[in-house]
Amino acid sequence: MDGTKKTQLIKPRIGMVLSKELPPELVPKLPKHWVQIGDVLILPLRQELEPYKHRIAEVYAEVIGAKAVLRKGRIRGEFRETNYEILYGEDTVTVHVENGIRYKLDVARIMFSPANVKERVRMAKVAKPGELVVDMFAGIGHLSLPMAVHGKARVIAIEKSPYTFQFLVENIELNKVQDRMTAYNIDNRDFPGEDIADRILMGYVVTTHKFIPKALSIAKDEAVIHYHNTVPERLMPQEPFRTFQRIAREHGYEAEKLNELIIKRYAPGVWHVVVDVRVFKG
Ligand SMILES: C[S@@+](CC[C@H](N)C(=O)[O-])C[C@H]1O[C@@H](n2cnc3c(N)ncnc32)[C@H](O)[C@@H]1O
Repeated sequence: MDGTKKTQLIKPRIGMVLSKELPPELVPKLPKHWVQIGDVLILPLRQELEPYKHRIAEVYAEVIGAKAVLRKGRIRGEFRETNYEILYGEDTVTVHVENGIRYKLDVARIMFSPANVKERVRMAKVAKPGELVVDMFAGIGHLSLPMAVHGKARVIAIEKSPYTFQFLVENIELNKVQDRMTAYNIDNRDFPGEDIADRILMGYVVTTHKFIPKALSIAKDEAVIHYHNTVPERLMPQEPFRTFQRIAREHGYEAEKLNELIIKRYAPGVWHVVVDVRVFKG
């Protein structure tokens, strides 16, 4: 696969340069792994390195060949924004190539999780030519661009954040799928389509269950819904499908679990899980 490796071992040159400038006890604490998205680095930096953070970032950027370096932080809020601190450089917009897809994004504001790569690749394979996919939480097209590009599916991509939406629109053009992928800058609960989708993407976490009734109304009979959510380990493996099934039944639908995968650890004792569910209209 082209694109960026999730992590890399520290390059000897970084250690050589910084060991001349940092107190010796701090040198072993330099980050040994980092994430590279396009030509932007995300560096996990320990608190002890705070006074040297800008110089450290500069050296990593020069040795690795990045134009900007961000400090790894939290992903927050409805729009799942990153708000990472910029340690080096100014321009944090980049094009990241993965699985033949070009993703343009602002790494300082928009999440792009290396841990979700398997799911992005899987979605390229499950989509079928001509079927209609509705991506309810499109982001920059993380999951639905592979479906349009490789799967040749028709895609309706819904993204609420105006900032992220700009990149979604650009990415549709960059990947030349304007003929089969359309983007809407709205809250998915305001999307008017009913009974239209062969497949629905619910790539969101924490509160995804609140959107199940809307997904059911968009779905055709026997549609497949890729339902993501975060689940405390003690409730697995019954959850998150049990909640999906309960809400579906309350709305007059039946739900069948086809497949379940763990995407990544979300927090201590909490997992990000995806369940593929087939839904049947009552
Ligand atoms: C965490 S990102 C995930 C992107 C992609 N689905 C993935 O799984 O990699 C979720 C996106 O959903 C958007 N979003 C959140 N609530 C939404 C809503 N009610 N309607 C449409 N988009 C929403 C956020 O702005 C964010 O860009």
